[in-house]
Amino acid sequence: MTDPAAAPAASPSAESSPWWRSAVIYQVYPRSFADADGDGVGDLPGITARLDHLRDLGVDAVWVSPFYPSPQADAGYDVADYCDVDPLFGTLADAERLIDAAHQRGLKVIIDVVPNHTSDRHPWFQRALAAAPGDEVRDWYHFRSPDPDDPEAPPNDWPSEFGGSAWSKTPDGQWYLHLFDSSQPDLNWEHPPVREAFRDILRFWLDRGVDGFRIDVAHGLVKAPGLPDSGLTREELATSALPTHTAPYFDQDGVHEIYRDWRGILEGYPGERLMVAEAWIRPYDRIARYVRPDEHHQAFNFGFLGTAWDAQELREHITRSYAANDPVGAPTTWVLSNHDVVRHATRFGWPAESLVTQLDGTMPEPVRETGLRRARAATTLMLALPGSAYLFQGEELGLFEVLDLDPSVRQDPTFHRTDGDRLGRDGCRVPLPWEAEEPAFGFSPTGEAWLPQPDGFQELAVDQQAGVAGSTLELYRALLAVRRERGLGTGEMRFVDEPVVEATVDSQSVVAFDVTTPAGTTRVLLNLGPALPLPEDATVLVASGPLQDGTLPTDTAVWLAV
Ligand code: NOJ
Repeated sequence: MTDPAAAPAASPSAESSPWWRSAVIYQVYPRSFADADGDGVGDLPGITARLDHLRDLGVDAVWVSPFYPSPQADAGYDVADYCDVDPLFGTLADAERLIDAAHQRGLKVIIDVVPNHTSDRHPWFQRALAAAPGDEVRDWYHFRSPDPDDPEAPPNDWPSEFGGSAWSKTPDGQWYLHLFDSSQPDLNWEHPPVREAFRDILRFWLDRGVDGFRIDVAHGLVKAPGLPDSGLTREELATSALPTHTAPYFDQDGVHEIYRDWRGILEGYPGERLMVAEAWIRPYDRIARYVRPDEHHQAFNFGFLGTAWDAQELREHITRSYAANDPVGAPTTWVLSNHDVVRHATRFGWPAESLVTQLDGTMPEPVRETGLRRARAATTLMLALPGSAYLFQGEELGLFEVLDLDPSVRQDPTFHRTDGDRLGRDGCRVPLPWEAEEPAFGFSPTGEAWLPQPDGFQELAVDQQAGVAGSTLELYRALLAVRRERGLGTGEMRFVDEPVVEATVDSQSVVAFDVTTPAGTTRVLLNLGPALPLPEDATVLVASGPLQDGTLPTDTAVWLAV
């Protein structure tokens, strides 16, 4: 018996779908993936040299985080030139080689576009600074003159996402807006030349063959007219249930016409090019506005990413995700980790009540074994769901968050702007281990690494897991292979409420659903409670951990052919 009210998803079949509707997209964070030149920072030739790992893993596409010229104040999300490559990462020719090499392996390539702000070293900002207050070139950004009665009061109460005020002063005394670091001034999207410049940037990379763009802070570009006070601190906005557009700097209606314009540009190119919105907003139906048929193709599902280890909550988020996306015809996406949040193998090792995505330094010691078991189960659940899924580099190795980085090596501006109150995101950005016995575990030929790798990464190196039954790497490979064989990512999904066998499925502790594709029906069981007997005649396709005497142990997920 199924519960039709809870039957959420209907996705078109694989054959009729563009690739991105069900794609598994692997995020490469260039500085931490693989370092070819030995300077301790990963680079584009390093990625190219390791592409076979991604082909063998079985993903469809690679999303490469920013590699543009940048002072690296925010690890490249502070762009000084959108149409070149930072020498730290290589050259434009290296980028072209990477795109070609990926395509030769059947992998699509998505790159980051960072339109909300530039680096303060970008010529546009430098030119604005060199001009007098009031000059037209200052209209590219949000400059404001100080209030003569209170020159030290910023123009409004907006907070920087990285801590402190969103306003800083130029040497000539004008204020400028930065929703992130003071080295990341916000562009003024009401100024037509800004719009024209980004059209050219998109075309520049589309001409070089990229298959799509991840749009950074897609919800931030347009601000409420007059830049009124928000009345909310960053923490109040983040922890309240208020819709994000309550803040006058996020999710304002005017952003959507920008994406309609961009969608038109993408449609002018052959192939099915993709735009995915990074929009940390709520509620779900506001996110769905970014994926209407003439805007982005996808948006990241951060509601799912933030879900606690709780069956009821997981079901609710899955249901709400489809309920928001299906009406606009967009595929739902799924994601558990990225370069901005605590790795899910660590998050799930914390008690549910302290599950957070941003570290504040007061977290209890995670239980690593529990975290990894749950992370493997969560990924097993995720990769069966219709829609597109995002993986973050290293999660296929079961990497944990490095919590004990010394303050002297931390680089995230969040750490420095909050005087260490927020630890920041360096812990998920530690360079990957490839070969356990090589310098820097194979990350770099010289043994250099921009963040120190913990000893615990050694046993998680790719060469320690490849071909080893039961390893996290082999689990991911199996999941992706079976996903492909059975057309998962497409099809129809329906929660199952019936007893799975004799045992009553306790909806408090089990998430159970069927996915039906032309290849058959796949039953997915995630057990968060006591061992659950499996049907005797069930064919186990993949399990996230060892089964025990025909039962599914706690914190384990399985795919069954039914
Ligand atoms: C979101 C990116 O993912 C994050 O890393 C960055 O710091 C901010 N946007 C600002 O660009």
